[in-house]
Amino acid sequence: MKTNAFDKGRILDVPQKAKAPARKGLVEWLVIAGLLVLSFIPLAGGAFRLTQMAGGTEITPANARFLAMPLPVVVHIVGASMYAILGALQFANGFRRRWPIWHRVTGRLVVICGLLVGLSGLWMTLFYTHPVGDGDFLSALRLLFGSGMIVSIVLGFTAIRRGDVTLHRDWMMRGYAIGLGAGTQSLTLMAGGMIAGPPNELSRALLMGAGWVINLAVAEFVVRKRSTPKGPGFPKGASRSW
Ligand code: HEM
Repeated sequence: MKTNAFDKGRILDVPQKAKAPARKGLVEWLVIAGLLVLSFIPLAGGAFRLTQMAGGTEITPANARFLAMPLPVVVHIVGASMYAILGALQFANGFRRRWPIWHRVTGRLVVICGLLVGLSGLWMTLFYTHPVGDGDFLSALRLLFGSGMIVSIVLGFTAIRRGDVTLHRDWMMRGYAIGLGAGTQSLTLMAGGMIAGPPNELSRALLMGAGWVINLAVAEFVVRKRSTPKGPGFPKGASRSW
């Protein structure tokens, strides 16, 4: 029997294809583990702050604003913890495909938590008295990226309501990247401190801004890489869905 190039390609492909999903699955879980590790520092800080507040700690300049008006910071920390953890798990493609209902239910929770994080973050930026070291430039960045996070989540949610899976994935990823800026900021602030010593108002704002910019750049890279598939069966310009 005659074998054409397509048949040959298929025969040659078999072992690679069998290995590919396993490798993809491992990469996905490594990414999720990385996201959880990245969230660890701000989440640990949040747990510490909540424990302190619940334990009736004494009022200091570092916590006076939180104790005077606890609701926004409590909503922010609880929402951020759920958003960071449940949000990371949404990246498990195999898991999501096998249990679509799980993705739908927890996804809605992630949307609500993300909106609460963004809105409480904006509220605290506008109404808490800024601690020493947090200037107007940092507030402007918080307003910019906090609004960007809310808009991304809303666009991601409305996209899936219209059935546009690719757009949903892209916007949810951008929203998550901004949210997880809190984790990257702990690294940029640490690196900045090690290189140049304690930051001043401007360098602190720049280092925190860098956390958001780095995360958004990574998200944008992934979005663009995924939406320009190569190889047979994917004509130029076609987009891959989940
Ligand atoms: C999942 C992502 C986020 C996590 C894990 C997180 C975590 C936290 C934590 C733990 C605190 C309390 C800090 C303390 O105890 O001193 C906090 C405060 C705050 N966060 Fe977030 N946050 C996140 C996203 C955001 C976003 C997107 C904004 C942007 C508006 C934001 C704005 C703020 C503001 C303004 C405060 C109060 C800062 C202060 O007055 O010291 N956060 N965040």
